[in-house]
Amino acid sequence: MEASDRYIREHSSGQTEALAWIERQTNIRTNHARMLSGAVQGRFLTMLTEMIRPARVLEIGTFTGYSAVCIAYGLPEDGHLDTLEINDELEDLILEGFDRAGVSDKISLLIGDAKKTLERLKSGQYDMVYIDANKREYPEYYDLVFDMVRPGGYILADNVLWDGKVWLNPLPQDKQTQGIAAFNSIVARDPRVESVILPVRDGLNLIRKKP
Ligand SMILES: C[S@@+](CC[C@H](N)C(=O)[O-])C[C@H]1O[C@@H](n2cnc3c(N)ncnc32)[C@H](O)[C@@H]1O
Repeated sequence: MEASDRYIREHSSGQTEALAWIERQTNIRTNHARMLSGAVQGRFLTMLTEMIRPARVLEIGTFTGYSAVCIAYGLPEDGHLDTLEINDELEDLILEGFDRAGVSDKISLLIGDAKKTLERLKSGQYDMVYIDANKREYPEYYDLVFDMVRPGGYILADNVLWDGKVWLNPLPQDKQTQGIAAFNSIVARDPRVESVILPVRDGLNLIRKKP
């Protein structure tokens, strides 16, 4: 961990027992622990959710459920989160984490390819959407969810700085960098939204659909 990251973590509120359990299990049972949001971004997600007070939230990319729990912590009493994950091997771990965090009744886990699941959910309306799945597909997710977000609602996308690769010239040709760079350009040019990129961890694009 870099000194700045350590300082930020040590001077922000800590994580709950349940989140520490999910983090530990992610490290033990998966090979991709760095995909997990972590304590600082997680706390930010909880506080942002508390500020927006959304009745319905959609998350694309559950992984081991860390960010889903953080969002659920910030939901109002009657709020609900639908979270989408393609990897069915993670299901038991995710559900145990929700249970330990006491948020099982606030979250529906929908296993399958998000692009297909979104087709099924498309008549729904969300107040907030968190995009954190396949980086190659960010522009597609944006198109698919846009009409599902209520006017004045928010879309938050993770990893939009992609380790600094998005501002390299020439732009790296790998599909993940291309996907994220295309997404950021589409959002920046989209007259239907206002947006700001926050340099939290690997970058969060906070997008508000104009009322
Ligand atoms: C960066 S991780 C999510 C991390 C999680 N949001 C967190 O902060 O703890 C990305 C997840 O998206 C999932 N994913 C990738 N492509 C997907 C798709 N097409 N549909 C649903 N989930 C997908 C991956 O399996 C992976 O678990």
